[in-house]
Amino acid sequence: MTNRNFIDTTDFTKEELMKIVNLSLALKKCVKAGYYPPLLKNKTLGMIFQQSSTRTRVSFETAMEQLGGHAQYLAPGQIQLGGHETIEDTSCVLSRLVDIIMARVDRHKSVVDLANNATIPVINAMSDYNHPTQELGDLCTMIEHLPVGKKLENCKVVFVGDATQVCVSLMMITTKMGMNFVHFGPKGYQLRDEHIKIAEANCKVSGGTVMITENEDEAMKDADFVYTDVWYGLYDAELSEEERMAIFYPKYQVDAEMIAKASPHIKFMHCLPASRGEEVNTNVIDAECSIVFDEAENRLTAMRGILVYFLKLMEKPIDGKAQDLAKKDLYDALIAL
Ligand code: CP
Repeated sequence: MTNRNFIDTTDFTKEELMKIVNLSLALKKCVKAGYYPPLLKNKTLGMIFQQSSTRTRVSFETAMEQLGGHAQYLAPGQIQLGGHETIEDTSCVLSRLVDIIMARVDRHKSVVDLANNATIPVINAMSDYNHPTQELGDLCTMIEHLPVGKKLENCKVVFVGDATQVCVSLMMITTKMGMNFVHFGPKGYQLRDEHIKIAEANCKVSGGTVMITENEDEAMKDADFVYTDVWYGLYDAELSEEERMAIFYPKYQVDAEMIAKASPHIKFMHCLPASRGEEVNTNVIDAECSIVFDEAENRLTAMRGILVYFLKLMEKPIDGKAQDLAKKDLYDALIAL
């Protein structure tokens, strides 16, 4: 049975994920041509945020609006969650009030608990473990920027720096698609054994490869895409500026010299927000090879596809008899006014 929630791409086959990506790209084409299909008419998205966000929040809201639906921003402190109400109760209540929920949470368990108690689809909009909506947006971006004559399966993707949840997610989606994934990062900040197990299971099915290295030449050789993220460390282990510079700088900053070691058609990616001058040199993020703003735009591309896909799964056939009875009750109630 197709999964109702979008918590982790590991729960989906390559074919299912490609259906969402193809839908996303088809919807992007429609919108670019000036056609806004009203596929989300009368649908409401509840957006729970435990952290700040630019791309995720704006792209979800815009996607709902463009396709005829509506989104409600539920910011920290604006709903009872985390205060007077449990996640379980919040989930049951929102299931009666909106049609689909997205949640950006501090702890992965929170979005899993929301999903387990909801009767409507729940979308993980980033946790401390992974960032699946970013994964699909990034996949759209890589498809749009495939090197001439190459398929996804022949591409090498290198993540440079700290093994953030975006690094974990990039590993998940690239190995699921059969691509060759490399994490170039320092010991102590590399993908962990539990992540490697997922990558290896994906590669077994897809034919992809996974490698972790501290050797820059080995990492960058023939790379098609190079990707980085901030060096803050995750939550409990948040690093001070001094600490992160001592660990990652200068070796793990993506700069022109590092880019020169990759293939001539290399593309630079970053989930953003970026700390310019830390994980990426300004002369790379602003260079011709940088596709970071296409990538940011494709957050919206992916959100349209994800929302339509998961709401379509919940669609029930129209019951004409029930509609006629309801209309009659409404007519009687209005007449009685
Ligand atoms: N990349 C990303 O998730 O950006 P926001 O934190 O701005 O949503």
